[in-house]
Amino acid sequence: MGRATLNQYLVGQQRMHTEPAPDIGALIEAVARACKTISTAVGKGALAGVLGSHGTQNVQGETQKELDVISNEILIEAAEWGGWLAGMASEEMETPYPIPAQYPRGKYLLLFDPLDGSSNIDVNVSIGTIFSVLRCPAGVTEPAEKDFLQPGRNQVAAGFVVYGPATILVLTLGHGVVAFTLDRETGTFLLSGEAIKVPEDSSEFAINASNARYWHPPVKRYIDECLAGKTGPRGRDFNMRWIASMVADVFRVLARGGVFMYPRDARYKEGRLRLLYEASPMSFIIEQAGGAATDGKTRILDIQPTALHQRVGVVLGSKNEVERITDYHLGKR
Ligand code: F6P
Repeated sequence: MGRATLNQYLVGQQRMHTEPAPDIGALIEAVARACKTISTAVGKGALAGVLGSHGTQNVQGETQKELDVISNEILIEAAEWGGWLAGMASEEMETPYPIPAQYPRGKYLLLFDPLDGSSNIDVNVSIGTIFSVLRCPAGVTEPAEKDFLQPGRNQVAAGFVVYGPATILVLTLGHGVVAFTLDRETGTFLLSGEAIKVPEDSSEFAINASNARYWHPPVKRYIDECLAGKTGPRGRDFNMRWIASMVADVFRVLARGGVFMYPRDARYKEGRLRLLYEASPMSFIIEQAGGAATDGKTRILDIQPTALHQRVGVVLGSKNEVERITDYHLGKR
């Protein structure tokens, strides 16, 4: 038998585990279908007229790109009709999206960043989609913002898709991490990575070094020690990478280890990345792969959100490196 399809994997998981409930599989397939459509649009680039600015701003005051808006619509259309969801929330929408009255209501909440790494759209560098699935609180049929404000440890599923040289879907249902590569000829996601594990140690870090003058002392100390290399306190050379698409940077961390950081600093006082649809799903995936994720002091999955578009400092990846950075923040070493 060849590689398992996403569908076969999801059915297999339903047979093996009682959690999450069976209907999660159909929701994940709907999201994956939407991502295939986004992948096609991304792949056509200028030929599909999808590049450039949409001429609007999102709730964070960032200019929306044409593809941000298109991807948001594709995800909504793919997921709203199936009876799996009670509501959706997206980076591109200020308030939660209610499921239209003609469709049945389900028990899950879907949160997403439809197109992560927007600054890379027009320069033909990898971008992606990030998603998180929560349970809608019992008895709620018209979820409001407060119903989405759940700590990341409540997630029942999370995933992301990288639109790179290959389109790859990374998924966790809370039983480890798997990856599927899109076969463009058949339009099928095929299993390409099982029981993915982030190495505990690593000699590679990812940070936007142009923010160095804003960094807080524990971050500056960690990076300085890495840069000092063999003759410094770490006694070995470190490599640096920064793609400026979280999806691509986190995929690399999953593939070969490393630390990805967008920490709080004197400029981004709350952090730069969004908690609910960027940091939280990525942290769930990284922890499921044996890595760790913190805002510097607190495990990201334990943070109680207070707003839908809240930002957070992020340090995630190889466990021993993340622990070291946490210790620096807590003054333990
Ligand atoms: O969504 C935010 C994001 O695009 C991430 O994907 C990426 O890691 C980061 O911003 C890039 O930030 P900067 O523009 O500072 O390099």
